[in-house]
Amino acid sequence: MKSYIVGNWKMNFSVGESSVYLHKLLQKTRAFRDIEVIVAPSFVALQPLSLQVDRKKIRLAAQSANPHDFGAYTGEVSYTQLRGIVDYGIIGHSERRQLFHESDKDIRASVAAALRNQITPILCIGETETEHTFGETHDVLRDQLLGGLSEVSAEDISKVIIAYEPIWAISTTTDSRIASPDEIGEIAQFIRRTLVDAYGESTAEAIPLLYGGSVNPTNAGAYLTVPGINGLLIGGASLIGDQFIDIIETAKKVKD
Ligand code: 13P
Repeated sequence: MKSYIVGNWKMNFSVGESSVYLHKLLQKTRAFRDIEVIVAPSFVALQPLSLQVDRKKIRLAAQSANPHDFGAYTGEVSYTQLRGIVDYGIIGHSERRQLFHESDKDIRASVAAALRNQITPILCIGETETEHTFGETHDVLRDQLLGGLSEVSAEDISKVIIAYEPIWAISTTTDSRIASPDEIGEIAQFIRRTLVDAYGESTAEAIPLLYGGSVNPTNAGAYLTVPGINGLLIGGASLIGDQFIDIIETAKKVKD
């Protein structure tokens, strides 16, 4: 399976800055057969960057979108409108769930909408610090995972990517801490078992599972060698060109 290195730029960079930054990334990265590099700029930058990007090197993702195809949804952008502009869509990020009250229903509709529009969903799941402390992690992850995938046909399940981001380990939250590779390994096994139980071994084994939460050039190698982890979803470090490139190079070394 390929490795996936995904940079979530969140609400950072103007359109001009996004374009300059993409230019720098394109100059400094090569086309890899076994590594998919993906960046998720803000909406306003997606269309111009789609004309600039070299898809052999870097693919674009949306950070979120509305699951309806068209209609009276003031201020929203749909996966249908993003079709041809992005190849991937980040769905159910904890910031969308927490700050914008996206429900499991919204998230499952988004996964279905992305697939309907030939956009690969990157479904994010993750527990809060409190859920973690009270030993509820497995229940929360199972619900988010199976809830998010419940409208996906058996045939489409293998087109989905899962990203595990424990909310307590995301650097932008107030009291974040680093998740150890052992902790991530245990959760990766749990997620894979849950997928195997739901969809069977061969389908489940083909679904890429990414880790996200305070990934940086120093710890990227350790996360990438956790059994069952197929890539990284990166926030802060993806905004710094040298760090993001460094992580891509690390992924290449791990692959080789
Ligand atoms: P950080 O890498 O800044 O912890 O962010 C993780 C994240 O939320 C990526 O989607």
